[in-house]
Amino acid sequence: MLREKSLLMIPGPTPIPPQVAAAMTRPMINHRGEEFSALFAEVSAGLQQVFRTEQPVYIFPAAGSGGWEAALVNTLNPGDTVLSVSVGDFGERWYRAATKLGLTVERLRFEPGEAADPARIAERLAEDRQKQIQAVLVQHNETSTGVTNDVRSIARVVREHGALIMVDSVSGLGALPLEMDAWGLDVVLTGAQKALMCPPGLSLIAFSERARAASERSRMPRFYWDLEAVHKSYLKRQTPYTPAISLYYALQASLRLIQAETLEGVWARHRLMGAMCRAGVKAMGLTLLAQDEATASDTCTAVVSPVDPKAVRKVARERLGVQLAGGQADLADKIFRIGHMGYTVPGDVLQALAATEMALALCGYPVEIGRAVAAAQEVWMRDLHG
Ligand SMILES: Cc1ncc(COP(=O)(O)O)c(C=O)c1O
Repeated sequence: MLREKSLLMIPGPTPIPPQVAAAMTRPMINHRGEEFSALFAEVSAGLQQVFRTEQPVYIFPAAGSGGWEAALVNTLNPGDTVLSVSVGDFGERWYRAATKLGLTVERLRFEPGEAADPARIAERLAEDRQKQIQAVLVQHNETSTGVTNDVRSIARVVREHGALIMVDSVSGLGALPLEMDAWGLDVVLTGAQKALMCPPGLSLIAFSERARAASERSRMPRFYWDLEAVHKSYLKRQTPYTPAISLYYALQASLRLIQAETLEGVWARHRLMGAMCRAGVKAMGLTLLAQDEATASDTCTAVVSPVDPKAVRKVARERLGVQLAGGQADLADKIFRIGHMGYTVPGDVLQALAATEMALALCGYPVEIGRAVAAAQEVWMRDLHG
Protein backbone atom coordinates (compact mmCIF):
# COMPACT_ATOMS: atom_id res chain seq x y z
CA MET A 1 0.00 0.00 0.00
CA LEU A 2 1.28 3.47 -0.84
CA ARG A 3 0.60 4.92 2.58
CA GLU A 4 1.31 8.51 1.60
CA LYS A 5 -1.83 8.57 -0.55
CA SER A 6 -4.65 8.50 1.89
CA LEU A 7 -8.04 10.11 1.45
CA LEU A 8 -8.90 12.30 4.41
CA MET A 9 -12.68 12.07 4.90
CA ILE A 10 -12.92 13.40 8.44
CA PRO A 11 -14.98 16.49 9.26
CA GLY A 12 -11.95 18.69 9.79
CA PRO A 13 -9.21 19.34 9.37
CA THR A 14 -10.03 18.76 5.73
CA PRO A 15 -7.75 18.34 2.71
CA ILE A 16 -6.26 21.55 1.33
CA PRO A 17 -6.02 22.47 -2.35
CA PRO A 18 -2.52 22.59 -3.89
CA GLN A 19 -2.98 26.34 -4.46
CA VAL A 20 -3.48 26.80 -0.72
CA ALA A 21 -0.46 24.67 0.17
CA ALA A 22 1.69 26.58 -2.33
CA ALA A 23 0.47 29.96 -1.09
CA MET A 24 1.80 29.18 2.37
CA THR A 25 5.37 28.84 1.10
CA ARG A 26 5.52 32.51 0.19
CA PRO A 27 8.16 34.57 2.00
CA MET A 28 7.28 36.62 5.05
CA ILE A 29 6.33 40.24 4.63
CA ASN A 30 6.19 43.22 6.95
CA HIS A 31 2.87 42.94 8.74
CA ARG A 32 2.81 46.73 9.10
CA GLY A 33 3.50 47.34 5.41
CA GLU A 34 1.37 47.99 2.35
CA GLU A 35 1.69 44.47 1.01
CA PHE A 36 0.06 43.04 4.10
CA SER A 37 -2.68 45.69 4.05
CA ALA A 38 -3.57 44.70 0.48
CA LEU A 39 -3.68 41.02 1.48
CA PHE A 40 -5.79 41.91 4.52
CA ALA A 41 -8.22 43.92 2.38
CA GLU A 42 -8.71 41.13 -0.16
CA VAL A 43 -9.19 38.45 2.49
CA SER A 44 -11.59 40.65 4.48
CA ALA A 45 -13.75 41.36 1.44
CA GLY A 46 -13.76 37.68 0.49
CA LEU A 47 -14.82 36.67 3.98
CA GLN A 48 -17.66 39.19 4.01
CA GLN A 49 -18.99 37.50 0.89
CA VAL A 50 -18.85 34.07 2.49
CA PHE A 51 -20.39 35.28 5.76
CA ARG A 52 -22.97 37.22 3.73
CA THR A 53 -22.42 40.28 5.82
CA GLU A 54 -21.47 43.90 5.47
CA GLN A 55 -19.92 43.81 8.93
CA PRO A 56 -16.18 43.32 9.33
CA VAL A 57 -15.03 39.72 9.75
CA TYR A 58 -12.19 39.59 12.29
CA ILE A 59 -9.40 37.07 12.03
CA PHE A 60 -7.71 35.70 15.15
CA PRO A 61 -4.80 33.28 15.09
CA ALA A 62 -6.60 30.57 17.07
CA ALA A 63 -8.56 27.35 16.90
CA GLY A 64 -12.28 27.57 16.19
CA SER A 65 -13.07 27.24 19.90
CA GLY A 66 -11.44 30.62 20.45
CA GLY A 67 -14.38 32.12 18.62
CA TRP A 68 -16.72 30.88 21.36
CA GLU A 69 -14.76 32.89 23.90
CA ALA A 70 -14.50 35.94 21.63
CA ALA A 71 -18.28 35.90 21.13
CA LEU A 72 -19.03 35.74 24.85
CA VAL A 73 -16.44 38.06 26.36
CA ASN A 74 -17.17 40.84 23.91
CA THR A 75 -20.93 41.02 24.35
CA LEU A 76 -21.91 39.95 27.87
CA ASN A 77 -21.46 40.82 31.52
CA PRO A 78 -20.39 38.53 34.36
CA GLY A 79 -23.36 36.54 35.65
CA ASP A 80 -25.54 37.23 32.60
CA THR A 81 -27.92 34.46 31.66
CA VAL A 82 -27.48 32.75 28.32
CA LEU A 83 -29.45 29.93 26.76
CA SER A 84 -27.26 27.22 25.32
CA VAL A 85 -29.04 25.19 22.68
CA SER A 86 -27.17 21.93 22.45
CA VAL A 87 -27.63 19.12 19.95
CA GLY A 88 -24.27 17.44 20.49
CA ASP A 89 -20.74 17.56 21.80
CA PHE A 90 -19.81 20.95 20.36
CA GLY A 91 -22.93 22.43 21.90
CA GLU A 92 -21.80 20.95 25.20
CA ARG A 93 -18.33 22.41 24.82
CA TRP A 94 -19.63 25.92 24.15
CA TYR A 95 -21.88 25.46 27.15
CA ARG A 96 -18.83 24.58 29.28
CA ALA A 97 -16.89 27.57 27.92
CA ALA A 98 -19.73 29.93 28.88
CA THR A 99 -19.99 28.37 32.34
CA LYS A 100 -16.24 28.69 32.94
CA LEU A 101 -16.37 32.32 31.92
CA GLY A 102 -18.78 33.03 34.76
CA LEU A 103 -22.05 33.25 32.86
CA THR A 104 -25.26 31.70 34.09
CA VAL A 105 -25.95 29.11 31.48
CA GLU A 106 -29.24 27.43 30.93
CA ARG A 107 -29.17 24.42 28.67
CA LEU A 108 -31.77 23.28 26.20
CA ARG A 109 -30.64 19.88 24.99
CA PHE A 110 -31.84 17.70 22.18
CA GLU A 111 -31.21 14.02 21.60
CA PRO A 112 -28.18 13.01 19.48
CA GLY A 113 -29.25 13.05 15.84
CA GLU A 114 -32.07 15.52 16.45
CA ALA A 115 -31.95 19.13 15.40
CA ALA A 116 -32.95 21.96 17.73
CA ASP A 117 -36.66 22.61 17.55
CA PRO A 118 -37.28 26.35 17.04
CA ALA A 119 -40.73 25.98 18.67
CA ARG A 120 -39.17 24.71 21.91
CA ILE A 121 -36.69 27.57 21.89
CA ALA A 122 -39.59 29.99 21.32
CA GLU A 123 -41.48 28.41 24.22
CA ARG A 124 -38.55 28.82 26.60
CA LEU A 125 -37.96 32.40 25.50
CA ALA A 126 -41.66 33.23 25.91
CA GLU A 127 -41.41 32.17 29.58
CA ASP A 128 -38.61 34.69 30.08
CA ARG A 129 -40.86 37.68 30.63
CA GLN A 130 -38.20 39.53 32.65
CA LYS A 131 -35.84 39.28 29.66
CA GLN A 132 -33.13 37.65 31.73
CA ILE A 133 -31.73 35.74 28.79
CA GLN A 134 -29.16 37.93 27.08
CA ALA A 135 -28.01 35.56 24.39
CA VAL A 136 -28.83 32.28 22.71
CA LEU A 137 -25.94 30.06 21.61
CA VAL A 138 -26.43 27.55 18.85
CA GLN A 139 -24.44 25.43 16.41
CA HIS A 140 -25.25 25.89 12.76
CA ASN A 141 -23.91 22.45 12.02
CA GLU A 142 -23.25 20.00 14.87
CA THR A 143 -20.24 18.09 13.61
CA SER A 144 -20.41 15.43 16.31
CA THR A 145 -23.85 14.19 15.22
CA GLY A 146 -24.09 15.30 11.58
CA VAL A 147 -27.06 17.59 12.13
CA THR A 148 -27.75 21.04 10.68
CA ASN A 149 -29.94 23.33 12.74
CA ASP A 150 -32.52 25.58 11.14
CA VAL A 151 -30.66 28.73 12.12
CA ARG A 152 -32.93 30.96 10.11
CA SER A 153 -36.05 29.91 12.07
CA ILE A 154 -34.16 29.92 15.36
CA ALA A 155 -32.95 33.46 14.66
CA ARG A 156 -36.50 34.56 14.02
CA VAL A 157 -37.74 33.41 17.43
CA VAL A 158 -34.69 34.78 19.22
CA ARG A 159 -35.10 38.18 17.65
CA GLU A 160 -38.72 38.27 18.74
CA HIS A 161 -37.49 37.87 22.31
CA GLY A 162 -34.67 40.37 21.87
CA ALA A 163 -31.67 38.29 22.98
CA LEU A 164 -28.54 38.14 20.88
CA ILE A 165 -28.24 35.10 18.64
CA MET A 166 -24.73 33.66 18.43
CA VAL A 167 -23.98 31.01 15.86
CA ASP A 168 -21.08 28.57 15.76
CA SER A 169 -20.74 27.75 12.09
CA VAL A 170 -17.34 26.08 12.35
CA SER A 171 -18.44 23.15 10.17
CA GLY A 172 -21.07 25.00 8.17
CA LEU A 173 -19.89 28.31 6.85
CA GLY A 174 -18.55 28.10 3.32
CA ALA A 175 -20.41 24.84 2.67
CA LEU A 176 -23.98 25.30 3.85
CA PRO A 177 -26.27 28.27 3.25
CA LEU A 178 -25.95 30.89 5.98
CA GLU A 179 -27.00 34.51 5.63
CA MET A 180 -25.63 36.53 8.52
CA ASP A 181 -27.28 39.86 7.67
CA ALA A 182 -30.48 38.62 6.03
CA TRP A 183 -31.23 36.22 8.89
CA GLY A 184 -30.36 38.80 11.54
CA LEU A 185 -27.55 36.83 13.22
CA ASP A 186 -25.61 38.75 15.87
CA VAL A 187 -22.43 36.72 16.06
CA VAL A 188 -21.20 34.20 13.52
CA LEU A 189 -17.95 32.36 14.04
CA THR A 190 -16.02 29.73 12.16
CA GLY A 191 -12.60 28.12 11.78
CA ALA A 192 -10.35 27.97 8.73
CA GLN A 193 -9.80 24.22 8.69
CA LYS A 194 -13.12 22.93 7.44
CA ALA A 195 -15.18 24.25 4.55
CA LEU A 196 -12.74 27.11 4.03
CA MET A 197 -10.11 24.60 2.82
CA CYS A 198 -7.23 25.98 4.91
CA PRO A 199 -5.05 24.41 7.56
CA PRO A 200 -6.15 24.87 11.18
CA GLY A 201 -5.07 28.03 12.97
CA LEU A 202 -7.56 30.79 12.23
CA SER A 203 -10.72 31.73 14.07
CA LEU A 204 -13.01 34.04 12.11
CA ILE A 205 -15.80 36.00 13.67
CA ALA A 206 -18.27 38.75 12.77
CA PHE A 207 -20.56 40.85 15.01
CA SER A 208 -23.81 42.58 14.06
CA GLU A 209 -24.36 46.24 14.93
CA ARG A 210 -26.47 45.10 17.90
CA ALA A 211 -23.65 42.88 19.11
CA ARG A 212 -21.19 45.74 18.66
CA ALA A 213 -23.44 47.98 20.74
CA ALA A 214 -23.63 45.25 23.40
CA SER A 215 -19.85 45.14 23.37
CA GLU A 216 -19.69 48.77 24.48
CA ARG A 217 -21.71 47.81 27.60
CA SER A 218 -19.87 44.54 28.19
CA ARG A 219 -17.48 44.34 31.13
CA MET A 220 -16.17 40.81 30.73
CA PRO A 221 -12.35 40.81 31.08
CA ARG A 222 -10.66 40.53 27.71
CA PHE A 223 -7.38 41.37 26.09
CA TYR A 224 -6.52 38.99 23.28
CA TRP A 225 -10.12 38.83 22.05
CA ASP A 226 -10.94 42.50 22.55
CA LEU A 227 -13.26 43.63 19.78
CA GLU A 228 -12.43 47.30 20.21
CA ALA A 229 -8.72 46.69 19.74
CA VAL A 230 -9.23 44.42 16.78
CA HIS A 231 -11.69 46.82 15.18
CA LYS A 232 -9.33 49.79 15.55
CA SER A 233 -6.65 47.81 13.76
CA TYR A 234 -9.15 46.54 11.20
CA LEU A 235 -9.79 50.11 10.08
CA LYS A 236 -6.06 50.39 9.33
CA ARG A 237 -6.07 46.97 7.59
CA GLN A 238 -3.95 45.54 10.34
CA THR A 239 -4.22 43.38 13.43
CA PRO A 240 -3.34 44.36 17.02
CA TYR A 241 -0.72 41.64 17.20
CA THR A 242 1.35 39.68 14.70
CA PRO A 243 -0.98 38.08 12.17
CA ALA A 244 -0.55 34.49 10.98
CA ILE A 245 0.69 35.73 7.59
CA SER A 246 1.06 32.31 5.94
CA LEU A 247 -2.52 31.49 6.82
CA TYR A 248 -3.69 34.78 5.31
CA TYR A 249 -2.05 33.68 2.06
CA ALA A 250 -3.78 30.33 2.41
CA LEU A 251 -7.12 32.02 2.96
CA GLN A 252 -6.58 34.34 0.02
CA ALA A 253 -6.03 31.32 -2.23
CA SER A 254 -9.03 29.40 -0.88
CA LEU A 255 -11.36 32.40 -1.10
CA ARG A 256 -10.35 32.85 -4.73
CA LEU A 257 -11.34 29.23 -5.37
CA ILE A 258 -14.71 29.80 -3.68
CA GLN A 259 -15.27 32.91 -5.77
CA ALA A 260 -14.44 31.01 -8.95
CA GLU A 261 -16.91 28.23 -8.07
CA THR A 262 -19.41 30.77 -6.67
CA LEU A 263 -20.76 30.35 -3.16
CA GLU A 264 -24.04 29.00 -4.52
CA GLY A 265 -22.03 26.46 -6.52
CA VAL A 266 -20.16 25.46 -3.36
CA TRP A 267 -23.46 25.01 -1.50
CA ALA A 268 -24.85 22.88 -4.35
CA ARG A 269 -21.76 20.65 -4.36
CA HIS A 270 -22.13 20.04 -0.65
CA ARG A 271 -25.86 19.36 -1.02
CA LEU A 272 -25.03 16.74 -3.62
CA MET A 273 -22.26 15.14 -1.56
CA GLY A 274 -24.51 14.96 1.50
CA ALA A 275 -27.31 13.33 -0.48
CA MET A 276 -24.90 10.86 -2.08
CA CYS A 277 -23.39 9.88 1.23
CA ARG A 278 -26.73 9.33 2.93
CA ALA A 279 -28.07 7.32 -0.02
CA GLY A 280 -24.97 5.12 0.10
CA VAL A 281 -25.20 4.55 3.83
CA LYS A 282 -28.88 3.62 3.58
CA ALA A 283 -28.16 1.27 0.67
CA MET A 284 -25.80 -0.65 2.95
CA GLY A 285 -28.72 -1.14 5.31
CA LEU A 286 -27.10 1.05 7.96
CA THR A 287 -28.78 3.65 10.14
CA LEU A 288 -28.00 7.35 9.99
CA LEU A 289 -27.74 9.08 13.35
CA ALA A 290 -29.60 12.03 11.81
CA GLN A 291 -32.82 10.40 10.66
CA ASP A 292 -34.54 13.48 9.34
CA GLU A 293 -33.39 14.23 5.79
CA ALA A 294 -34.38 17.89 6.27
CA THR A 295 -31.82 18.42 9.03
CA ALA A 296 -29.16 15.86 8.09
CA SER A 297 -25.85 17.60 7.53
CA ASP A 298 -24.39 18.03 4.07
CA THR A 299 -20.86 18.38 5.48
CA CYS A 300 -20.67 15.36 7.77
CA THR A 301 -22.58 12.09 7.98
CA ALA A 302 -22.75 10.16 11.24
CA VAL A 303 -23.37 6.45 10.78
CA VAL A 304 -24.55 4.09 13.52
CA SER A 305 -21.97 1.35 13.25
CA PRO A 306 -23.23 -2.24 13.24
CA VAL A 307 -19.78 -3.45 14.41
CA ASP A 308 -17.04 -1.82 16.51
CA PRO A 309 -16.58 1.55 14.76
CA LYS A 310 -12.92 1.70 15.77
CA ALA A 311 -12.27 -1.55 13.91
CA VAL A 312 -14.06 -0.27 10.80
CA ARG A 313 -12.01 2.91 10.81
CA LYS A 314 -8.76 1.03 11.38
CA VAL A 315 -9.38 -1.26 8.41
CA ALA A 316 -10.46 1.67 6.23
CA ARG A 317 -7.34 3.62 7.16
CA GLU A 318 -4.73 0.88 7.16
CA ARG A 319 -5.92 -1.39 4.37
CA LEU A 320 -8.04 0.84 2.15
CA GLY A 321 -6.36 4.24 2.40
CA VAL A 322 -9.43 6.16 3.57
CA GLN A 323 -9.61 8.01 6.87
CA LEU A 324 -12.99 8.18 8.57
CA ALA A 325 -13.70 9.90 11.89
CA GLY A 326 -14.87 8.37 15.13
CA GLY A 327 -17.69 9.43 17.41
CA GLN A 328 -17.23 11.92 20.23
CA ALA A 329 -18.03 11.61 23.93
CA ASP A 330 -20.91 9.14 24.49
CA LEU A 331 -21.01 8.31 20.80
CA ALA A 332 -17.39 7.09 20.67
CA ASP A 333 -18.32 3.39 20.60
CA LYS A 334 -21.47 3.80 18.56
CA ILE A 335 -20.82 5.74 15.39
CA PHE A 336 -18.28 6.62 12.76
CA ARG A 337 -18.44 9.77 10.70
CA ILE A 338 -17.73 10.56 7.08
CA GLY A 339 -16.69 14.14 6.44
CA HIS A 340 -17.49 15.62 3.04
CA MET A 341 -16.65 19.27 3.06
CA GLY A 342 -14.24 21.81 1.69
CA TYR A 343 -11.80 20.54 -0.92
CA THR A 344 -13.86 17.42 -1.49
CA VAL A 345 -15.73 16.28 -4.60
CA PRO A 346 -18.48 13.71 -5.31
CA GLY A 347 -15.86 11.19 -6.48
CA ASP A 348 -14.30 11.31 -3.01
CA VAL A 349 -17.67 10.38 -1.53
CA LEU A 350 -17.81 7.35 -3.82
CA GLN A 351 -14.38 6.30 -2.62
CA ALA A 352 -15.34 6.79 1.02
CA LEU A 353 -18.47 4.70 0.55
CA ALA A 354 -16.53 1.99 -1.28
CA ALA A 355 -14.04 1.85 1.58
CA THR A 356 -16.81 1.80 4.17
CA GLU A 357 -18.51 -1.14 2.48
CA MET A 358 -15.26 -3.05 2.16
CA ALA A 359 -14.19 -2.26 5.72
CA LEU A 360 -17.51 -3.49 7.08
CA ALA A 361 -17.21 -6.67 5.02
CA LEU A 362 -13.63 -7.18 6.23
CA CYS A 363 -14.93 -6.73 9.80
CA GLY A 364 -17.39 -9.56 9.18
CA TYR A 365 -20.56 -7.55 8.64
CA PRO A 366 -22.68 -8.82 5.73
CA VAL A 367 -22.80 -6.04 3.13
CA GLU A 368 -23.22 -6.49 -0.57
CA ILE A 369 -20.17 -4.87 -2.13
CA GLY A 370 -21.05 -2.12 -4.59
CA ARG A 371 -24.55 -1.26 -3.43
CA ALA A 372 -23.62 1.89 -1.56
CA VAL A 373 -21.52 3.18 -4.42
CA ALA A 374 -24.28 2.43 -6.94
CA ALA A 375 -26.87 4.25 -4.83
CA ALA A 376 -24.60 7.29 -4.56
CA GLN A 377 -23.86 7.17 -8.28
CA GLU A 378 -27.58 7.26 -8.97
CA VAL A 379 -27.93 10.41 -6.88
CA TRP A 380 -25.02 11.96 -8.76
CA MET A 381 -26.48 10.96 -12.14
CA ARG A 382 -29.84 12.48 -11.25
CA ASP A 383 -28.05 15.67 -10.31
CA LEU A 384 -26.14 15.72 -13.59
CA HIS A 385 -29.37 15.30 -15.52
CA GLY A 386 -30.77 18.26 -13.57
C1 LIG B 1 -19.20 22.77 15.30
C2 LIG B 1 -17.83 22.94 15.84
N1 LIG B 1 -17.61 23.94 16.71
C3 LIG B 1 -16.41 24.16 17.23
C4 LIG B 1 -15.33 23.37 16.88
C5 LIG B 1 -14.03 23.63 17.53
O1 LIG B 1 -13.06 23.98 16.61
P1 LIG B 1 -11.53 23.83 17.00
O2 LIG B 1 -11.28 22.39 17.18
O3 LIG B 1 -10.80 24.45 15.84
O4 LIG B 1 -11.33 24.60 18.26
C6 LIG B 1 -15.50 22.33 15.98
C7 LIG B 1 -14.38 21.46 15.61
O5 LIG B 1 -14.52 20.43 15.02
C8 LIG B 1 -16.79 22.12 15.44
O6 LIG B 1 -17.00 21.14 14.57
